[in-house]
Amino acid sequence: MEIEDPRILPEPLAYAEPPASPPSAPSARLAELPLTDASVLTSPAMLTVEGLNLFYGSKQALFDVDLKVAKNTVMSFIGPSGCGKSTLLRCLNRMNDLIDGVRIEGKVSIGDSNIYEPGVDVISLRKRTGMVFQKSNPFPKSIYENVAYGLRIQGVRDRGILDEAVETSLQSAGLWDEVKDRLKESALGMSGGQQQRLCIARALAVDPEVLLMDEPCSALDPIATSRIEELIFELKKKFTIVIVTHNMQQAARVSDFTAFFWLGKLIESGLTEKMFTNPRERTTEDYITGRFG
Ligand SMILES: Nc1ncnc2c1ncn2[C@@H]1O[C@H](COP(=O)(O)OP(=O)(O)O)[C@@H](O)[C@H]1O
Ligand SMILES: [Mg+2]
Repeated sequence: MEIEDPRILPEPLAYAEPPASPPSAPSARLAELPLTDASVLTSPAMLTVEGLNLFYGSKQALFDVDLKVAKNTVMSFIGPSGCGKSTLLRCLNRMNDLIDGVRIEGKVSIGDSNIYEPGVDVISLRKRTGMVFQKSNPFPKSIYENVAYGLRIQGVRDRGILDEAVETSLQSAGLWDEVKDRLKESALGMSGGQQQRLCIARALAVDPEVLLMDEPCSALDPIATSRIEELIFELKKKFTIVIVTHNMQQAARVSDFTAFFWLGKLIESGLTEKMFTNPRERTTEDYITGRFG
């Protein structure tokens, strides 16, 4: 008998619309999953991408992408180099606006607001989405000033507010205990893994809702990488996270949902465990089993 698996979700949406009443008990199998629990299935959409096409000049880099990322979940973008992962990530906070010759069609919403609507305040939009890059990029300033940077730009001068934001953000980034006695020292003296967590703290300090991470561990050693992965698991309680990774084990470990891209197209998206054990598309299977990439 064919039992419908509640985790097999309607495509191309990556999650189920919240049902009228919450499901009573998660299925036994779902409860066993290490990182994903049933709540992700009923979580409302934080990010919604609809019919997104992106052109760099005459070259199309994204084709008709539809995707949803549920609130307080982690989604990984995977796929071979050049398939458009970073491009799509940058669309989520309009970072591609900064690139000449980019044309974008379609819609991206954070919560209910379409961020590509004319007249959108891009500055306040970017406050809602923190971004962390592959190469940690601390400023040549003190640890404290790195974290306080975004608030200072917003004009915050109150020392008490800054102190508290710096401490809370460093706590959230799992760095406070390591640096609380040397906040005035240069951030450039930290290890690579600490610098990356500092960049996460800096992103968190302005209190975003979404955290976008583009291969945040690819320059880190395995220990620093696992610290970031543990952190991601903690952070999703407060934030919605999208992470680009070329490391499929990492995607499997940290993300509730995975989206697989190939040649600018979203091939499929859904619960990570399903994607890695029973993908819908042949192309996905070929990629995750290492037949190309
Ligand atoms: N600034 C840019 N100008 C022109 N083409 C770009 C630019 N950035 C990326 N591309 C092209 O868009 C495609 C997708 O790139 P990217 O999003 O960086 O892929 P990924 O992150 O998956 O490796 C590639 O063909 C790449 O060469
Ligand atoms: Mg990239």
